[in-house]
Amino acid sequence: MVADARTPGGLKKVLGPMDLILMGIGAIVGTGIFVLTGTGAVTAGPALTLSFVIAAIACGFAALCYAEFASSVPVAGSIYTYSYVTLGEIVAWMIGWDLLLEYGLATSTVAVGWSGYFQSLLEGFGFMLPEAFRAAPGAKPGVDTLFNLPAFLIMMVLTWMLSLGVRESARVNNVMVLIKTGVVLLFIFVGASYVKPGNWQPFMPFGAGSVMSAAALVFFAFIGFDAVTSAAEEVKNPAKDLPIGIIGSLGICTVLYVIVSAIMTGIVPFMQFKGVDHPVSLALKYAGQDWVAGFVDLAAILGMSTVMLVMAYGQTRILYAMSRDGLLPAKLSTVHPKYGTPYFATWMVGIIFGLIAAVVPLDVLAELVNIGTLAAFSLVSLAVIILRKKRPDLHRAFRCPGVPVVPALAIIFCVALMSFLSWHTWVAFVIWLVIGLVVYFGYARSRSKLNGK
Ligand code: ALA
Repeated sequence: MVADARTPGGLKKVLGPMDLILMGIGAIVGTGIFVLTGTGAVTAGPALTLSFVIAAIACGFAALCYAEFASSVPVAGSIYTYSYVTLGEIVAWMIGWDLLLEYGLATSTVAVGWSGYFQSLLEGFGFMLPEAFRAAPGAKPGVDTLFNLPAFLIMMVLTWMLSLGVRESARVNNVMVLIKTGVVLLFIFVGASYVKPGNWQPFMPFGAGSVMSAAALVFFAFIGFDAVTSAAEEVKNPAKDLPIGIIGSLGICTVLYVIVSAIMTGIVPFMQFKGVDHPVSLALKYAGQDWVAGFVDLAAILGMSTVMLVMAYGQTRILYAMSRDGLLPAKLSTVHPKYGTPYFATWMVGIIFGLIAAVVPLDVLAELVNIGTLAAFSLVSLAVIILRKKRPDLHRAFRCPGVPVVPALAIIFCVALMSFLSWHTWVAFVIWLVIGLVVYFGYARSRSKLNGK
């Protein structure tokens, strides 16, 4: 597989470690911190900070396992590819199928969050969209919404950018990431002086279970660091750069989230976040800093755009890898002669998940993304343990420390978080897995290029 990836005519190698950290932050900071913190604060109270720490610990353990994977087999398609080489086709298929849910629906989820902030900005200029085009059917109680037009349109714009090539997209991403981290820091510096420590009391009003429920939700805020691994074939020095990219971006975001959520719940009594879809800027308005709040709105819009960009990018690369192995139609791995991108796959993914963003509400999407991701993380961590036993000789440019304890902890944290998600989410997830098996046995298995070798 590694040799295949090095043949001419493949993807261009243009990315360095700084590009990867920025790509990670680009994928991570988005709807989680800008939108879901509101629901998180109402669920857990000021102990939301603790929820972020718990979710971060789960991600941290999983990130170490991911980094080992990513640095061992640096070809496109992230852990799908790695599990293909090491654990066999059916496990790889299920993980790939799981990741399609994660990346695809995460793009849709963030598009919906983007749409909310975008409309609030438009309203600031006195412009309102017709009701029917403001959100998915049933998303707003008492309002006849039909189609989330801004969510669909932003997906189309980003798809177009991605289809033009990774270099251009990475550049756009870098600028946007700098803007959004700048504004998050601005929020921290401006907001800190308005904190009333009294608002942090009681710290854990609804008990430890509520802190776990909030953690299972805001876990979404950390999703994305793994998207970096799917860029492996386009990285100049994957063995060194990938672990730096993953762990660096995750660490920076954890610090930012904990501080931001502490300041938010320190400025505003947490129950006032109920039903609010722009909680970070609300906190600034509450402090009388309307100007800074406007900046935050704008940065949230930019920030969420970069998340979508990296997620959609990750998904096309997984499709590319699965198609190259014969598990999905060959058309998905055709590379555009001029732009060097999987052009067809990019547009296909953009249109499908753009339509999903237009017709499914945000909370439903976010939970589905979380369950898919937590399951994939658990599988990766399990695979690290198995592989160290089965193939101790395999070259690992980055070795996860403390095996098997660290991967075991990753599994425990991920499964614990999964158990706090709703049963609707579980049912939908099982249905998705069953469809995956049907497609595998009905299509993929007989067409696999590596089957039987
Ligand atoms: N972590 C990403 C976000 O919060 C998916 O939007």
